[in-house]
Amino acid sequence: MTETRGTASPSRRALIGWGSAGLALGAAAAGGAVAMTRTGNDVDPAGSATGVAVDFHGAHQAGIATPVQDRLHFAAFDVKTDDRAEFVQMLKDWTAAARRMTAGRTVGDGAFGGLAEAPPDDTGEAVGLKPSRLTLTIGFGPSFFEKFGLAGRRPEALVDLPRFPGENMDTSRTGGDLCIQACSDDPQVAVHAIRNLARIGFGKVAVRWSQLGFGKTSSTTPDAQTPRNLMGFKDGTRNIAGTETDRLKKFVWVGEGDGTDWMTGGSYLVARRIRMNIETWDRTSLQEQEDVFGRDKGEGAPVGKAKEHDEPFLKAMKPDAHVRLAHPDSNGGITILRRGYSFTDGTDGLGRLDAGLFFLAYQRDVRKGFIPLQRKLSASDALNEYIQHVGSAVFAIPPGVRDKDDWWGRTLLTEEA
Ligand code: HEM
Repeated sequence: MTETRGTASPSRRALIGWGSAGLALGAAAAGGAVAMTRTGNDVDPAGSATGVAVDFHGAHQAGIATPVQDRLHFAAFDVKTDDRAEFVQMLKDWTAAARRMTAGRTVGDGAFGGLAEAPPDDTGEAVGLKPSRLTLTIGFGPSFFEKFGLAGRRPEALVDLPRFPGENMDTSRTGGDLCIQACSDDPQVAVHAIRNLARIGFGKVAVRWSQLGFGKTSSTTPDAQTPRNLMGFKDGTRNIAGTETDRLKKFVWVGEGDGTDWMTGGSYLVARRIRMNIETWDRTSLQEQEDVFGRDKGEGAPVGKAKEHDEPFLKAMKPDAHVRLAHPDSNGGITILRRGYSFTDGTDGLGRLDAGLFFLAYQRDVRKGFIPLQRKLSASDALNEYIQHVGSAVFAIPPGVRDKDDWWGRTLLTEEA
């Protein structure tokens, strides 16, 4: 792999010069971020966090406990090859590319530096852009285990999601053998990453569906201001923070003895495309809107309380309030890590916005996380009048890539089934 490209912009050139050793310094295992020090005219005058790279290596994949970035490009892929060796090589190539892109570098020989007779290794649109806290997180869907003789290695916890009342699934936005979640503070950096992985995978995998997201709807940083969803409410007030090591261990990371050794340090992801009936919502009174959630719209405080982070008194809320139903105290302690994004994908041809929440939830076991929670919500939640689940997928998220010799999926694919 060539390290430098004469045509790279100053900012990317500065990053290339760092090398992987420098990038790894001091980064916390759970998606620690490394600040980029720049030289000459490449100093970031605002000192913004955009120039920061999140370490790709660690016990857990970055992009789960990592403080939530502003933008998302999520893609589900189907596997097209029957050749296990070819597929493993693709995973190795993906890992190498992901390692470089998350560090703010171009793929392979770059966008302009390779052979004139061949297509460039990198598509080029991220040249000049900062690492932008890009994280790339891979997952394996239930259908993946029907391939390459892997049926015996499918985790028991990776169940197919049941059908829930009220959902209206669009099969073209459902399922997938693999997923890549790309999160970044710059949408072009996230899109570039997915595009280049799809390009590397050409002939071996094909994009099944994808989703762009903006305006994170959850925070995993306790001191950050809670973002608002498209219904105008603060979303992510009560979530697991990336710094809560004990709760992450209890509710998010697969532990030793959970039944599937290759998943130790991994997690399970449920993705749901939830359409909001924005127009109906916008004609609903403020009182009804606040009753639906059980929180006030301005401060985000639970009913009867003054401050957003005051402990909710659930009995003060309407019996069908979203927060009352979803709260751990109403569900035997069930707790998930939410990491969703808003989306607006144009209009639906009927004069309505195709908008909503792309819900992403990480948990140690979907049978003890999303499934029982969604069973309850789909049956009784007042919010159901204003939303509909239209896309769905579930993935086993393997543990992190340990070092520069490791690769995505190694723990699953190196031992025989
Ligand atoms: C479009 C759909 C949804 C919207 C707009 C929405 C919005 C919200 C809002 C505004 C809150 C209160 C603030 C907070 O603590 O984050 C909340 C809390 C919560 N939601 Fe949702 N939500 C949606 C779907 C879901 C789904 C599908 C689940 C799980 C199956 C879920 C699980 C939770 C949980 C666990 C809480 C925290 C409850 C607590 O501990 O107080 N939400 N949601």
